[in-house]
Amino acid sequence: MTEHPLTLLPAWQALEAHAASTRAVHLRDLFAADPDRFGRLSFSQGPLFADYSKNRVTTETIGLLLELARSRNLEAARAAMFAGEHINITENRAVLHVALRNRADGSMTADGIDVMPDIRATRERLKTFTDDVRGGTWTGATGKPIRHIVNIGIGGSHLGPMFVADALKDRQKNGVSLAFVSNPDRAQIDEALAGIDPAATLFIVASKTFTTAETMFNAGIARAWIVDALGEAAVAKHFAAVSTNLKAAAAFGIPASSVFPMWDWVGGRYSVWSAIGLAVIIACGFEDFDQFLAGAEAMDRHFETASHDQNLPVILALIGIWNADFLDCPAVAVLPYDHRLKLLPFHLQQLDMESNGKSVMSDGTAAVGKTGPIVFGGGGSDSQHSFFQLLHQSPRVIPCEFIAALRGADGVGPSRDLLLANMFAQSEALMKGRTAADLAATPPELAPHRSFSGNRPSTTLLIDEVSPYTLGMLLALYEHRVFVQGVVWGINSFDQWGVELGKELAKSLEPAFAAASDGAALKTRDSSTSGLVAAYRIVRNGGKKDGAT
Ligand code: F6P
Repeated sequence: MTEHPLTLLPAWQALEAHAASTRAVHLRDLFAADPDRFGRLSFSQGPLFADYSKNRVTTETIGLLLELARSRNLEAARAAMFAGEHINITENRAVLHVALRNRADGSMTADGIDVMPDIRATRERLKTFTDDVRGGTWTGATGKPIRHIVNIGIGGSHLGPMFVADALKDRQKNGVSLAFVSNPDRAQIDEALAGIDPAATLFIVASKTFTTAETMFNAGIARAWIVDALGEAAVAKHFAAVSTNLKAAAAFGIPASSVFPMWDWVGGRYSVWSAIGLAVIIACGFEDFDQFLAGAEAMDRHFETASHDQNLPVILALIGIWNADFLDCPAVAVLPYDHRLKLLPFHLQQLDMESNGKSVMSDGTAAVGKTGPIVFGGGGSDSQHSFFQLLHQSPRVIPCEFIAALRGADGVGPSRDLLLANMFAQSEALMKGRTAADLAATPPELAPHRSFSGNRPSTTLLIDEVSPYTLGMLLALYEHRVFVQGVVWGINSFDQWGVELGKELAKSLEPAFAAASDGAALKTRDSSTSGLVAAYRIVRNGGKKDGAT
C-alpha cells in the first residue's frame, strides 16, 4: 500500500500487524474460546439490536479500530458536521441533514444562519398540505379529491421515499394509491398512469435541482397528460414540487403554495427527511413522518453523544473498515429478511456507494484506504436461492448484513419462524462452515464440493418491528456509518462528481441520433460509441444507413 499519513499512522500499522497475526484464526475458535462473545460483541440501542460477534474481530481488534478513529479526529469531524461547518469541501457546503430531524427547541446553524425556523415552517406547511390532501379538502381542478399520488424523481429523490413508503405500506389505509416514477423508459410512467383518473391524480416533482434530465422528462410527460385531460389551467392543482430551485418549479406552472423548499446543505441521498418525504406523508400521515424523524433524531443523539466504544454507527463503521482494508473484502451484502424492507438494498446502494465510492482524499491525493465497498443485496430468504451460493463458497469473502424485524405485519408465528430460522442459520453457516470431520460420512470425491470454509463475517441487526420510528433509526444509523467511514478514509462523502461525466456525454450524444444530424457529435468519439450510435440510428430513422456515423 502507498505510504500516506493515513497508512503511516501507528493505529493503521498496528491493525495491519494484527490482521497478519490473526489471519489464521477461525470464528469457530473465537466462539469456542469465549462463551460470552455474543454478550460482549452485541449492542442494544432502543428498539434496535446489533450483533457483530460473527465478525472476525476480538476486543483487541475493536480497541485498535477505536484508536484509528481517534487518530483520524472523528470526534472533531462529527462536531463539525453538527455545527454546520462546510465539510463538503468540494462544493463548499454544510452537511446538515441532521437538522431536518431535529425536533428539539433551539437552533442549528449553517452559514451563520439558524436553519431551524425554515425547517419548522416547512414542516407546518407539509402537515397542512398533506392533511388537506388526505382529508379530501385539497382537490384537483374539477373538485375531485386526490386518490392517486405519483412521485417523479430519481436517485435520492426517489429511492429513500420509495423505500420508506413501501416499508410502511400496511399503515396506508386512506385508499390513496402511490406510484414512483424515475426511469425515462416510457414504460414506467405509462404503467403508473394506466387506469388512473387524471382528475384525482397529484404528481410530486421531487428534484433538488429541478434540472435532472430523467425527472424533467417524466414531469413533462405527466404535465402533457394532465393538460390533455383537464386543460392547461389544471396544472396548478395537479402538481406539487420539492426543490431548491423555486424559480424553475414556478416556471413549470406550480404555485408557490404547492412548492416545498430544500436547502443546498441537504444531499440528495440524505434528503428523505426533508419535504422529499412528501409522498410518504400523504400516504402515511404526518404523525408517522414525525415518528420517522423521531427515530432518526434518537440515533443522531446517540451518535453525537455516545463515546466511540459505545457508539453503534462508529462500531459498525470501523468493522466495515476492518473488513475492507485489513481483510480485503470487496463488497457488502445487505440482506433484509422482511418483505417490507426489500427495497433497503437499493437505498443503501446510493447512500453508501455515491457517498464513499471515491478514489481521491479530501486533500486531493489518491485514496489509500479501499473506500466504499460494493453494496448489493436482496431480500431473504429469496436470495438464499439465488446468490448465496457465492457468499458461502466463493474464494472472495463478502461480509453480510442480516436485517430483520422480530414481529411481522402479522405478529409472530409460522411466517416469522421460517424467516428467522433461515436468517439465523445463514449467519451460523457462514461463520462455522463445514469441516472434513463434519463430512465423515460423505464419499471422499464429494467432500471437497460439500465442504465450506466458513469464517465469513456477518452482522445482524434486529428491530422489534417495522415502524416509522425504527425505520428512522435504521436509516440514520446507516448515514452515520457512511460518515464515519468517510472520515477515517479521509474522503468527502458528500459530493458525487463521478456521476457527472456520463450525464455530460449523454447530453452531447443525443443530437447524433436525429436523422438530420451531420455527425458532428461523433467526430471525437471512439469507434465503439460511434458504432453503437449507428446501430440505433438505423432503427430510429427508419432503417436507412446514412453517412453521419
Ligand atoms: O446524479 C446523481 C444525483 O445528483 C443524486 O445525487 C441525486 O440524488 C439525483 O441525482 C437526483 O437529483 P435531483 O434531486 O436534483 O433531481
